[in-house]
Amino acid sequence: MKAVSQQILGGPEVLETVEVPLPTLRPGQVLIRLAATSVNPVDCKLRAGQVGFLGEPPFTLGFDLSGTVTEVGEGVSEFRSGDQVFGMVHTRTGTYSEYVTARADSLARCPAGLDLQTAAALPTAALTAWQALELAELRSGERILIHAAAGGVGHLAVQFAKLRGARVIGTARTANHEFLRDLGADELIDYTTTDFTTAIDEVDVVLDLVGGDYGSRSLRVLTPDGRYITAQQSNTGDDSRAALITGRPSPADLSTIGKLAESGQVRVHIDRVLSLAAAAEAHRLSESGRVRGKLVLTPW
Ligand SMILES: NC(=O)c1ccc[n+]([C@@H]2O[C@H](COP(=O)([O-])OP(=O)(O)OC[C@H]3O[C@@H](n4cnc5c(N)ncnc54)[C@H](OP(=O)(O)O)[C@@H]3O)[C@@H](O)[C@H]2O)c1
Repeated sequence: MKAVSQQILGGPEVLETVEVPLPTLRPGQVLIRLAATSVNPVDCKLRAGQVGFLGEPPFTLGFDLSGTVTEVGEGVSEFRSGDQVFGMVHTRTGTYSEYVTARADSLARCPAGLDLQTAAALPTAALTAWQALELAELRSGERILIHAAAGGVGHLAVQFAKLRGARVIGTARTANHEFLRDLGADELIDYTTTDFTTAIDEVDVVLDLVGGDYGSRSLRVLTPDGRYITAQQSNTGDDSRAALITGRPSPADLSTIGKLAESGQVRVHIDRVLSLAAAAEAHRLSESGRVRGKLVLTPW
């Protein structure tokens, strides 16, 4: 089968399509014929060696997947061959691949009315957004500031926050304001022209998808008992209001999110669909920092 692999750490050009054996199925896993995967910024950081939790190359990138179960491992009762599933895996054999092995407890059934490309756009971004708002215990009537509101995580967080009854303020370039208003954002700040710390009243929750000095700056607009949740390293020191979110696999959360997407209560914006043959181009686009919503990749 085909997979995207890399022999060395480096720029997008290190990504290459190679022929590899079908992965071996272990107990508790299923084998999936990939329908689609999606790009997350962490893929680019792993490719370049900015984060190293996959170890040394060669490895295959990719966390998100949707597809059809073709084989079921020992001890798996949740799925059968032919089931359409979506989910999130963290392995060195990745999801930029024609076939993927995944633990059954990292997957959910794909709702019948949700197309597989949209399903593949969801797992990492949606689980991170969902679990961040859970961690923040965001309540109806509260004000939340979401940084990088137009990105993969951000545009879903805007909608999840509205479903919780919050007032949503987002940072994004003006070019993304209409897009975000359509998704329910109440106030928008163009961070390229306006300093958010002087432009808004205090907020109850910040979801920071930028990091760095956005940490200390965000704390300046947070209520004394507010909650600051970041998906990125940031300079909040030991402020007790700050917490780091790591999106984790959860079939229950994925099922809930899948139903919201299927019913149209949550809209998943796909900026572009590319072939896995163009994985390097997809990484260049992701690294431009200008992708609106998600980039989806389909097999060769
Ligand atoms: N900890 C975790 O488990 C976890 C999970 C997922 C993601 N993350 C991290 O969270 C971050 C966001 O992920 P993502 O998938 O949403 O990224 P993404 O889709 O690549 O984000 C792209 C968006 O970022 C916006 N942006 C860039 N710089 C900005 C700034 N200074 N202020 C406001 N908006 C800005 C851009 O909008 P404009 O064009 O409007 O600027 C663009 O739409 C990444 O660093 C990622 O690694 C962490």
